[in-house]
Amino acid sequence: MMGWDKSFYISCLVLLSVFLLVSTAPHDDFSDLRGSYCRERKWCCNGREDSCAVPILDSSKISGTLCYCDNFCNNTRVNDCCPDYLPFCFGVEEARKCHERQGKVTGRIVENCNECICKGVDEFTDPEWICENHTCIIDSSTIQRIDGQYPYSWSARNYSEFWGKTLKEGVGRRLGTLPPQRFVLKMTPVRRAYDPNALPKEFDSEEKWPTFISGIQDQKWCASSWAVSTAAVASDRYAILSKGREKVQLSAQNLISCNTKGQEGCEGGHLDRAWSFVRYNGLVDEECFPYDATDKKCTIRKKGRLLDAGCSPPLYKDRKNRYTVSPAYRLGNETDIMYEITRSGPVQATIKVYHDFFMYGGGIYKHTNLLRTDKKGYHSVRIVGWGEENTPEGVQKYWKVANSWGPYWGENGYFRISRGNNECEIESFVLAIWPHVDRKLS
Ligand SMILES: *[C@@H]1O[C@H](CO)[C@@H](O)[C@H](O)[C@H]1NC(C)=O
Ligand SMILES: *[C@@H]1O[C@H](CO)[C@@H](O)[C@H](O)[C@H]1NC(C)=O
Ligand SMILES: *[C@@H]1O[C@H](CO)[C@@H](O)[C@H](O)[C@H]1NC(C)=O
Ligand SMILES: *[C@@H]1O[C@H](CO)[C@@H](O)[C@H](O)[C@H]1NC(C)=O
Repeated sequence: MMGWDKSFYISCLVLLSVFLLVSTAPHDDFSDLRGSYCRERKWCCNGREDSCAVPILDSSKISGTLCYCDNFCNNTRVNDCCPDYLPFCFGVEEARKCHERQGKVTGRIVENCNECICKGVDEFTDPEWICENHTCIIDSSTIQRIDGQYPYSWSARNYSEFWGKTLKEGVGRRLGTLPPQRFVLKMTPVRRAYDPNALPKEFDSEEKWPTFISGIQDQKWCASSWAVSTAAVASDRYAILSKGREKVQLSAQNLISCNTKGQEGCEGGHLDRAWSFVRYNGLVDEECFPYDATDKKCTIRKKGRLLDAGCSPPLYKDRKNRYTVSPAYRLGNETDIMYEITRSGPVQATIKVYHDFFMYGGGIYKHTNLLRTDKKGYHSVRIVGWGEENTPEGVQKYWKVANSWGPYWGENGYFRISRGNNECEIESFVLAIWPHVDRKLS
């Protein structure tokens, strides 16, 4: 017991004296007090004068704290040189660094769609990371907040294709439908006689016409949804109406490259102009003029028969002309759209795309107000069916829609979106056409 007491007593003494030593030690590191001390006393570097002792800390609080700008300051036991002594008198630049960010303290790093550079304002202040401030397509906090949780009926996902891209790039290169002109909006929707109550609760073109429906396309970084959706709707309807005899994948590139009047290729296009091009000029198939996501030159003759374009003979031997269609017609409301799909296949729709849509990962999409970015654009897609789902909020009606962002986006390339309330204007501007299949086939 006695031995323990004694050693405890000694340890306390040692600790106390260490504490006293430390707390009374002179301030020997001024490196956090940047400023121009020696620079203003150029003569000091090689001499020693009274004027070379510079008050450094607020003298009203700690009287007599000085730093030195002469060549003795780093010869004494304690280094009491002014902070700019080495850089100014010796030109020795201390390796000044930024705060650690992504494990780096100097140089350049990339954070999603923004680049940061470790940069100093002047030679006396520590450098800092200066970052770009773009809005990125993928916003991690939105993904965490949505993530299928109430009240959201869909989940959000990170896509490596979109990671590192700005929202401006997304809206500029991933959509591509120019707003319809006023006269098109005035187009009167067609009227058909049918019983709205007789329509099925669920419908999927892919189940009704397996193998006739186009696969999911990837428009890549080319704002060509206007061309991709037009070619796909026309292809689906050719296969359906001909009962598979004229199953064809029509070329979207044909539109991008050759339908240039009043259209902007990979910068977007109008749907009414696209349909009129298909009506008067027709399209060739994908194999004949493959998609390459650029504004490449029109290398096929604009008009003429299929073989004039250098295409191989089609599956259906009697086809001589390019694939043309009837004038496009507009569908006016939810049930008219549904009826049309059951009769003749997928239709083309235009949606207003907001920031959150890019991150859609599954579920029934409804635009949220989580991101207050005003960048938005129009995009055209293909409605292939519809359905209903029971949710905590009751029965939720939806459209099943094919997007053109590849098969890994959304629900295998498709998305579902709220139906019956014109979500993102999806029911405002829906178009369809009749394909000109050989009479013998239809
Ligand atoms: C002060 O320190 C610097 C860097 O360690 C050294 O280069 C310089 O020679 C020293 N000055 C004197 C006077 O010893
Ligand atoms: C970045 O932009 C947002 C809005 O666009 C703004 O609120 C924020 O202050 C900006 N930040 C910087 C560091 O410029
Ligand atoms: C998103 O995906 C990219 C690439 O796959 C990855 O580098 C990034 O860390 C991911 N971001 C988030 C927030 O998960
Ligand atoms: C859509 O319009 C048709 C007439 O063309 C009408 O019979 C039908 O009830 C309407 N449907 C809806 C959902 O308003």
